[in-house]
Amino acid sequence: MSLFIKKPLAQLMQTGDSDKGLKRTLGAGNLIALGIGAIIGAGLFVRTAAAAGEAAGPAVVISFIVAAVGCAFAGLCYAEFASMIPVAGSAYTYAYVTMGEFIAWIIGWALVLEYALAAATVSIAWSEYLNNLLGGAIPYAWSHSPMETSIDGVSGIINLPALFILLILTLILIKGTKESAMVNAIIVFVKVSIVLIFIALGWQFINPANYDPFFIPETAAGHEAFNRHGWGGVLGGSAIVFFAFIGFDAVSTAAQEAKNPKRDMPIGILGSLIVCTILYILFSRVLTGIANWEEFKTVGKEASVAYAIQHYMPGYGWLATLITVAILAGFSSVILVMLMGQSRVFYSMSNDGLIPKVFAEVHPKFRTPYKSNMILFVFVGLFAGFIPGSMAGDLTSIGTLFAFVMVCAGIWVMRIKNPEAVRPFTTPLVPLVPILGIVICSAMILSLPADTLLAAGGWMIIGLFIYFFYSKSNSVLRNK
Ligand code: ALA
Repeated sequence: MSLFIKKPLAQLMQTGDSDKGLKRTLGAGNLIALGIGAIIGAGLFVRTAAAAGEAAGPAVVISFIVAAVGCAFAGLCYAEFASMIPVAGSAYTYAYVTMGEFIAWIIGWALVLEYALAAATVSIAWSEYLNNLLGGAIPYAWSHSPMETSIDGVSGIINLPALFILLILTLILIKGTKESAMVNAIIVFVKVSIVLIFIALGWQFINPANYDPFFIPETAAGHEAFNRHGWGGVLGGSAIVFFAFIGFDAVSTAAQEAKNPKRDMPIGILGSLIVCTILYILFSRVLTGIANWEEFKTVGKEASVAYAIQHYMPGYGWLATLITVAILAGFSSVILVMLMGQSRVFYSMSNDGLIPKVFAEVHPKFRTPYKSNMILFVFVGLFAGFIPGSMAGDLTSIGTLFAFVMVCAGIWVMRIKNPEAVRPFTTPLVPLVPILGIVICSAMILSLPADTLLAAGGWMIIGLFIYFFYSKSNSVLRNK
């Protein structure tokens, strides 16, 4: 039987409405909040200043627009698929219908890089910020991986705060999707409010001189490389802030829990993307207006937002503390939605027989894939507890970009092979939009460091072994 055996669309449409499966509890508002919950996090609060200082200067605003345009092409393709195939599993499921089992497996495996590793990366960042807020009260050894050593020569043992936040969020996820959505909505309210307060109050402290020059000049020391000054720097900056947009696609993993997925999926995906893009543009404009971008290369590099407030907004010290709270809250919802997304992708892969059945077992009362959530806690915890955060961040971007490319390609294939399928939402200008999505996302993949590309290649090789030694022979579709 062909490696590229495809799941019939009609068969997929029948999944997901049984009494024993996941429950449809999420409305359009929940879905937009889920998207914002997954999107606003380390990317905005940490990487904005990094992109300004390293590559784009005040033009980081344009970097955000460039990254948003790249995501919008992918987002439009996701919206068509999610409204058309409202089943859990996102890009993995779409590929099963359009490009066949083998490609679907590869995407499902790449999505682990996105969701599980993003959860690990952000939980490590959460641990760091918590320790900042507590004035360094947690001993180094218990808040760092064994692969790290402090400047005083203390070795890390395990990152306990990272495991703590993962455990709490796992328990909430097990309790119920509705409950998780509620916790997420509260967090989203807190973090969006604080971002808005920062924009509104910070606006008055903008010093127009900080916008001049708007692009980093080629003559600036250390900025000779093509992607470190001028328009090239804007592109370099967009690859750095791309991380800030990761997560809007996680909305599509919850398709099987949406009350009215045909209408609400596109609203959730595109709505959260639009809201976040507007906030990002305003936020980066204010941040680079309050402090000079050059400071983000040196003194203001760590905790950049708090730095800008403390140095340039006299009397607003409380806002710096609030921002740290917003950051902690923001990180928590990112982890929550990423863990949720990962368990839903595994749920679909398990129902298809490609991974063991335990990942699709739903709790009799809570109707959540509880065993999968618990296994994921251990798996993600191994990364979060024992590996430094920097290793996981770029892998997250690769996994995401790869899924984006495949979803864009899938929309195009589907239009050719299945033109008559009902499409509640249609991606405009096909094939132009998918092609632009593929080109921009592929370019961003190639701009990532070579060792990250190698590590992702290694991950894929492990995936191929599992496919050929387990999944292929256990595939439900093949064994019918
Ligand atoms: N977009 C998410 C963040 O910035 C992953 O933390």
